[in-house]
Amino acid sequence: MDPILGDCSLARLRARTSYKWRTYPPDVLPAFVAEMDFDPAEPIKDAVRAVLAAGDLGYPHKGSLGDSFAEFAADRLGGWSPDPDLVFAIPDVMTGISEVIRAITPPDGGVVINPPVYPPFFVSLELAGRRIVEAPLSLADDGSYDLDTEALDRVLAAPGVGAYLLCNPHNPVGRVWSRDQLTTIADLCDRRGVPVLVDEIHAPLVLPGSAHVPFHTLDHPAVRRAIVFSSASKGWNIPGLKCGIAIAGDTAGAAILTQRAEALLAAHVGVHASVAAFRHARPWLDAVVAQIDANTRLLTGLLAEHLPGVRYRRPQASFLAWLDCRELDLGDDPAAEFRARGRVALSSGPEFGRPGLGFARLNIGTSPELITEAVRRMAAAVAR
Ligand SMILES: Cc1ncc(COP(=O)(O)O)c(C=O)c1O
Repeated sequence: MDPILGDCSLARLRARTSYKWRTYPPDVLPAFVAEMDFDPAEPIKDAVRAVLAAGDLGYPHKGSLGDSFAEFAADRLGGWSPDPDLVFAIPDVMTGISEVIRAITPPDGGVVINPPVYPPFFVSLELAGRRIVEAPLSLADDGSYDLDTEALDRVLAAPGVGAYLLCNPHNPVGRVWSRDQLTTIADLCDRRGVPVLVDEIHAPLVLPGSAHVPFHTLDHPAVRRAIVFSSASKGWNIPGLKCGIAIAGDTAGAAILTQRAEALLAAHVGVHASVAAFRHARPWLDAVVAQIDANTRLLTGLLAEHLPGVRYRRPQASFLAWLDCRELDLGDDPAAEFRARGRVALSSGPEFGRPGLGFARLNIGTSPELITEAVRRMAAAVAR
């Protein structure tokens, strides 16, 4: 591994007290929640230290968050140049999505999502009292997922549907949607009068060979109503610093976010850390992307050797491996079996919706050694 990422030694990782490292007993190897194991980027540590040294621990001001994100987007996210005035600091992506959903849909309004998908999408919509309307991704025989635009159009036309929550890159299947697909989505939503919210949090982690298309770079009328969510929290592994980003498509979207400013307070230290990430920690991000890319190849080989019954397609983005374990006969929730019998904790497929039955999600944002150990434990679980 690039020394910039540290060594992911288990002794040091077990000293961490975050959710990943404290949820299960020490004999369980955690590979579930989307936290990576790498050492933080130095520019981010410097930014946090500077905030502390200055006693700068008050309420957040977005400062140069908008400009730094726009610079990063122009350079790394498909030449996108968001207007910094339309970029807002939020505490985290799900709080931002939840507030905007409450603002733009009536109680009991329908919100479309594409399972299998990030479990908090279900939870937030339920807590907001909105109806979940599913347009599942299609799954081909070769294990590849795609958007089912016919199913999408059908549900967008259903009565009372007030928003579409799109995940791009998609967690957990790792797809990045093409410009053509996004244009089709924009057409369908425009025709049905449904605004699009796009969660682009994994975009900084697109892997070599694929390109992220920011929704706001489409030349389409639907873009103005679309609110996009991003963050440095996944790409640079700083979810504990509580700062995400919402990007409005026009002043009406900006007004929705401005009105809810009190409900959307980021951590000021997170704002500074994010600016440092976007401006000064791109070499760290490059090292992470290269490592994840290598890890996807490693995992392909390890599964072929030790768990040939598991199907895995290398993703186009991010560090989450979506594993089809249905051939292993471990039931609907293979992660429960891997945990109980193999002492390795993956995310449970069923939490991602009905299409997740028989699947599990493995976090490969770590060292080759720990991935090898995770697969060894999974294989041991199956052997028993
Ligand atoms: C698709 C997606 N959205 C949102 C989040 C939440 O991110 P955060 O709480 O750091 O804003 C995650 C975290 O894994 C995610 O995968």
